[in-house]
Amino acid sequence: MNFEDWKILRFEKLSSTNDTALEYSATADGCYVIRADEQTAGRGRRGRVWQGLKGNLFFSLLLKFEMEKLGELVIISALSLYQSIKQISPQADVLLKWPNDVLLSGAKVSGILLEKAAGDYMIVGIGVNVEQSPQGKDMLYRATSLKEAGINISGDDFLTLYLRIFSNNINILNAEGFESLRRLWNDNAKAMGREIVVRQEKKDVSGIFKGIDEKANLLLEKNGRTDKITFGDVFYKE
Ligand code: BTN
Repeated sequence: MNFEDWKILRFEKLSSTNDTALEYSATADGCYVIRADEQTAGRGRRGRVWQGLKGNLFFSLLLKFEMEKLGELVIISALSLYQSIKQISPQADVLLKWPNDVLLSGAKVSGILLEKAAGDYMIVGIGVNVEQSPQGKDMLYRATSLKEAGINISGDDFLTLYLRIFSNNINILNAEGFESLRRLWNDNAKAMGREIVVRQEKKDVSGIFKGIDEKANLLLEKNGRTDKITFGDVFYKE
């Protein structure tokens, strides 16, 4: 898969690029990028709202991908964001947070929402705070933007770089499997070997963060036992 394989469709305004990607998936042939300059009903994980702040990047990748490898796709999507930021600004303080967050100077700079589409298609919806970050007391995590961290890049250039890196990672996955990508993710994850809390719907679970396994589950060690966590929001004990 190469950058040239992506059909990039850019819209001025959409409710959600994930919704438009879903519509396209019914008749899709190949892989697409659905991008909107403005998003009026952007969605985040678990029904949360994703604000459509001006100057930020909103796009959805529409590609064929095996459902069983969903976890890998999440990790690759986030890792590619990490690598893109590091390529633009090698000294930037960027770390990964399970399952799909990228932290810049300790704050959330992007969001990823995976959804199933028609046939074998998957949607990877990505929001990157290029110029602005949402603020407010009701936010689950502190947010930042590339600009606030002193990284000046246009949305166009960021997207091009991201698509190149993402395509390359998919090629690595297909040729060699997940292991080297998993290792790269683990090497750059925040709080490896430290205590974290995973907030789930009905309970909080805490333990020592041991990275992700070969299926992209989070590994949490407690009382000499390692549990596999498949969902939840991670919080750090600073
Ligand atoms: C999260 O961190 O909660 C995920 C946020 C995902 C936001 C992006 S913006 C482009 C795409 N369209 C949406 O409605 N959501 C995703």
